[in-house]
Amino acid sequence: MKASTLFLTCAAAPALAHPGMDRVIAEIQARDDFVLNARSDILLGDLLNGILTAVGQTIKNILTLATSAIDQGTSAAYTPPGALGSAACKKDPLCVWYYVANDMWGDFADANGCTNLGRGAIRLGFHDAAAWDVSSSYGGADGSILLTDELSRSENRGLEEIGAQTKTYYSTYNPYGAGMADIIQLGALVGTVACPGGPRIRAFAGRKDNARAAPPGKLPLPSMDAPTLISLFAQKTFTASDLVALVGAHTAARQRFVDPSRAGAALDSDPQIWDASFYGETLTGNNQTFFILHSDKALATYTTTTAQWKAFAGAGGQGLWSPAYAQAYFRMSMLGVNNLNQLTEITKILPSR
Ligand code: HEM
Ligand SMILES: *[C@@H]1O[C@H](CO)[C@@H](O)[C@H](O)[C@H]1NC(C)=O
Repeated sequence: MKASTLFLTCAAAPALAHPGMDRVIAEIQARDDFVLNARSDILLGDLLNGILTAVGQTIKNILTLATSAIDQGTSAAYTPPGALGSAACKKDPLCVWYYVANDMWGDFADANGCTNLGRGAIRLGFHDAAAWDVSSSYGGADGSILLTDELSRSENRGLEEIGAQTKTYYSTYNPYGAGMADIIQLGALVGTVACPGGPRIRAFAGRKDNARAAPPGKLPLPSMDAPTLISLFAQKTFTASDLVALVGAHTAARQRFVDPSRAGAALDSDPQIWDASFYGETLTGNNQTFFILHSDKALATYTTTTAQWKAFAGAGGQGLWSPAYAQAYFRMSMLGVNNLNQLTEITKILPSR
């Protein structure tokens, strides 16, 4: 449902770090009569200054909910024209990404579903992109989480293994033109489809890498309560409903550092599968059976988010959640990217089961 028009329409104002945008965000935050299934349609980056290209129009259509963020195709739609490094491969902007995604698939998917590295890749994409908000002039999906020492920040604990693996992808494929920011975001999308049930979120490449560490204090903590989380995500252009959809990624999650004595505990009953059971299990489950983050429980039970949580937990929840997650994660993958008019769609190379 395209709701939120009431308070988000004026967001299509012509520049980013400007008072109009601040006002819109303030309105999202101040609003406590929560709208079920209300998704953000706020424009991002250079699109605020104009739609100059066909790809810019496509990204605008997805951000403004006119087009689905879920691809209907399959990976069989693409065959590489040649080996990595061959002249034919160099000529085709999708080719190197086919090889990156193939390599990731071997690490992120096994017979049971997604692996530790696959789950880590989903979280890594989130932690690179979400270190940004509308007041930031840098940060976002810019690769800085692995190009600087950001991994040593406490909120990034648990990302060591996927961080090291992703740096290996970078050293292998950067000589063929693959940048860190794109590798990280593609990893999050490959990780998602590696979990059975995960949506095929449309993939784009061409983001600019940034060797400057992201602004601190932009990532959520598991100790936070719902109002703090809602306002933190509003600053990143997400509605409360988007936030509820996004934390559904904890359907494919284990914790190691919140309670080290329970290291490896899953956040739902089947962390290798992408399904909506996480919502119901967080609502009514036992914190000993699986690990329930305080922040997840807070969103599940807070007055203005509990209806959305229960909608995802209820009958038909998966069908409601999947497009909501895809839409919100697509937005996530574009935070802080200021050359959206110059990206290339690479969705065809996304693997599938
Ligand atoms: C309310 C906001 C959020 C908080 C407070 C939060 C917090 C956490 C924490 C504490 C962990 C366990 C880390 C560890 O001890 O190893 C975790 C895991 C994870 N999170 Fe979140 N998270 C949030 C939102 C998200 C979002 C939006 C995504 C993706 C879109 C995401 C994806 C993941 C994934 C995939 C894991 C599992 C990683 C693994 O198994 O290695 N989280 N999160
Ligand atoms: C579940 O238990 C862990 C400790 O193992 C604790 O950190 C967490 O806050 C608990 N969750 C809830 C919802 O109380």
